[in-house]
Amino acid sequence: MSNAIKPETIQVIEDRHSVKVYEKGYVIPQEDMDLILSAANAAPSGWNLQHWKFLVIDDEAKKQELLPIAYNQNQVGDSSFTVAILGDLEANKNAVPVYDALVEAGGMSAEIRDTLIGQINGAYEHPGVARDSALSNASLAAMNLMLAARALGYDTCPMGGFDHKAFVEHFNVPERYIPVMLITVGKAAKPAYASGRFPLSEAVIKNSF
Ligand SMILES: Cc1cc2nc3c(=O)[nH]c(=O)nc-3n(C[C@H](O)[C@H](O)[C@H](O)COP(=O)(O)O)c2cc1C
Repeated sequence: MSNAIKPETIQVIEDRHSVKVYEKGYVIPQEDMDLILSAANAAPSGWNLQHWKFLVIDDEAKKQELLPIAYNQNQVGDSSFTVAILGDLEANKNAVPVYDALVEAGGMSAEIRDTLIGQINGAYEHPGVARDSALSNASLAAMNLMLAARALGYDTCPMGGFDHKAFVEHFNVPERYIPVMLITVGKAAKPAYASGRFPLSEAVIKNSF
């Protein structure tokens, strides 16, 4: 592998950087937006509960309203659109439609479905599970979104720097969902700042600490 050409996916991962300056007014075609959001929606999730909603903010007036909530980080106003990745705090409720569909398709028995739904609801009674699951699973969707955007030639910036409470209030986010991060998507006008990583030898621990 070391001498081989890098697989395209690895190249896309390496090419992704957090771009903060975008071509203002650049319109991403709807079909590309759909591809990006479909890739996000294709993320894996625990029990396939799909703990996410994608609140797309592409209306100019709404982008301007988001700007102060995102502490005036310019990328929110200048990018083509921003996606608020929301985590589902009641994703256990998704178990019924997810597993009913499997039973209907003949891929699962009704008994196994009922057992699984019981296990999922049991797990969600433990404190912290709903929030941890919402954050971790929705974050996987966020990563898919950024990589899909890069694969299509666009750039992104994940953002945790925004007033979560103000965001929820302003965009009428139901209590069931928590904002996980914002992701700006657009055409880069300036490359991202250089960002390094700790060497792999520091990041990887083999077998046990
Ligand atoms: C959860 C999270 C929150 C972030 N919040 C912000 C932010 O509010 N504003 C910003 O400009 N960049 C933000 N970033 C981008 C990071 O600064 C960036 O990912 C990091 O410096 C590494 O650079 P790279 O993404 O270009 O590799 C955030 C990244 C993550 C993953």
